Amino acid sequence: MDNIKKYIIGKPFETNAVIERLSVSEELPSRIEFSSDKGVLKYEMGKEDRIYGLGEAVRGINKRGWIYETYCSDDPMHTETKRSLYGAHPFIVVDGRETFGLFVDYPDKVTFDIGYSDIDILEITVKSPNYCLYVIEGETPLDIVRSFRRLIGKSYIAPYWAFGFQQSRWSYYTSDDVQKIIDGYRNNDMPLDAVYLDIDYMDSFKDFTVSEERFPDFEKFVEKAKQQHIHLVPIIDAGVKIEEDYGIYTEGRDNGYFCKDKDGNDFVAAVWPGKVCFPDFLNREASHWFGMKYKTLIDKGIDGFWNDMNEPAIFYSEEGLEKALDKISEYKGKNIGIYDYFGLKDTVLGLSNSFDDYSSMYHNADGEIVCHNGVHNLYGFNMTKSASEAFKQIAPDKNILLFSRASYIGMHRYGGIWTGDNQSWWSHIKLNLQMLPSLNMCGYLYTGADLVGFGDNSTEELALRWLALGVFNPLMRNHSALGTKDQEFFRYKNKGIFRNLLKIRYALIPYLYSEYRKAVENDDMMFKPLAFEYRDDKYAKAVEDQLLLGESLMIAPVYEPNAIGRYVYLPEDMLMVRFKSDCEYECEKKIKGHHFIEIPVTDVVVFVRKGRELPIVKAGMYTDEIDLATIKYIRNKDDVISAYELITE
Ligand code: GLC
Repeated sequence: MDNIKKYIIGKPFETNAVIERLSVSEELPSRIEFSSDKGVLKYEMGKEDRIYGLGEAVRGINKRGWIYETYCSDDPMHTETKRSLYGAHPFIVVDGRETFGLFVDYPDKVTFDIGYSDIDILEITVKSPNYCLYVIEGETPLDIVRSFRRLIGKSYIAPYWAFGFQQSRWSYYTSDDVQKIIDGYRNNDMPLDAVYLDIDYMDSFKDFTVSEERFPDFEKFVEKAKQQHIHLVPIIDAGVKIEEDYGIYTEGRDNGYFCKDKDGNDFVAAVWPGKVCFPDFLNREASHWFGMKYKTLIDKGIDGFWNDMNEPAIFYSEEGLEKALDKISEYKGKNIGIYDYFGLKDTVLGLSNSFDDYSSMYHNADGEIVCHNGVHNLYGFNMTKSASEAFKQIAPDKNILLFSRASYIGMHRYGGIWTGDNQSWWSHIKLNLQMLPSLNMCGYLYTGADLVGFGDNSTEELALRWLALGVFNPLMRNHSALGTKDQEFFRYKNKGIFRNLLKIRYALIPYLYSEYRKAVENDDMMFKPLAFEYRDDKYAKAVEDQLLLGESLMIAPVYEPNAIGRYVYLPEDMLMVRFKSDCEYECEKKIKGHHFIEIPVTDVVVFVRKGRELPIVKAGMYTDEIDLATIKYIRNKDDVISAYELITE
């Protein structure tokens, strides 16, 4: 890896983000200015420079013009002014006057001020100057990404069935509720491969338990779902409920497997179950112990999990609550001033995920006591690693689905991610699109957003438009929050349109799965910005709402309300394919340039690149029903450059 230089600043904590052990370069890179004892890195950007990367983050594909912090944050309000989301991915590529990549391997907050304080300056601030810096050289952003991906290791491979459509909602309280969802899809002839079990399946929100009352004879229920070709995917939360007769808690407590407070007692905070302790995933023994607990559910026939609340999310701690209550009681009976009132409000809102709590939480990293504050971004990573490693022991012959909410660079070797609690907002359709390439840059290939939006209420038009992008998300899951309007696709008025769109997804699965596997194999990106391929095309470089998908396709979904279509830029002559359903489509040649394309809500439009072909199949009601004998190739040109390489499971 001659094109990657590694520098060590201070005494970094080993994150396990990279798999290649490179020799260390002594002299710091000259193009970057280092200061404040090397915790601050400055680079003067050229006027045309574009900055790509940062994985899970707000804003566009080109990250220039905002300030971002890589810090795993439980925050459902993904507005454009937010700095952090659930994943922390401190990798960027500068492309312009010079082209190079930077990976700041540091497990706590790194701030990327990309022309926010000074329009021309890229300034990176590492919370404490103890980190590894990797500088990656390459001719193009794609070369740099591929080198980075080789450095951090191969991406996780999800099972084939996990490319089918999956339905979720927080509030399927009973097995009857779940069965109704399965029936809703099956009775309406709509494809479906999985239904998710959110926290409601558990007994009092206790990990690895199942409520006997609401899910009686769970094993049989899992089996019955399987017979209907449905996989049930339960959630696992990071916090372990404190309860004397709950074996997982007492085992964890007695063996010292939980994170501690400053006095060496178990660190306690509240999440869904009330008071919980957090398994110490930096402690190898504790991590193995927790991972092996998944066996309880695997033994009942479960073959997929989503790890949640693993930033870790904290609603409040006793200390935090006490301070807040003291403050509130000070004001009792007084006529409080407006600033005091604002302060009071901030105190209450600040109870969750507070810096004070993270500073009072300690890990035992195989003998070394480390404050959580300092290694914060590794928690979700190591929770998911713990499960993935245990799966190899529990079920070596099974490919179990696994993805997480919090993540850091390197977790992509163990599982996928979903992008957390988004909202039923039009802007979040676009955000879903824009995050796909930056997540791919960081190795997250099995990924997707909550389709139709998690929080807030959706409309039928938003659901249709989001689904028309959702058909391309590797993790294609409709998920929504408790209390929001129902948004399962069979509930809407125009069921026929939803059915057709879902079938288009299934028609595309052989292509999507093949491109996914190739991207894993070749350390490549499945979704690329146009700028990564059309290097000399100034219009392609500026495109923020179209993506290249695999070797054959360009996609350009509609993400605005009341639209009759949209402008699309074609960087070369392409074949426009307008899908109406899995079997019904029209093709039209389009020449390079700007076009207004009419796209009614009934259609999914894709563009096949020159000399490429797109395999499609007849949809099934679930992935196993897809019959590869029905495969057809839509070709842009008779003489394709090479026959399409199809990868099946
Ligand atoms: C978190 C998750 C969300 C889940 C909810 C209840 O907010 O991000 O997906 O539905 O918790 O478990």
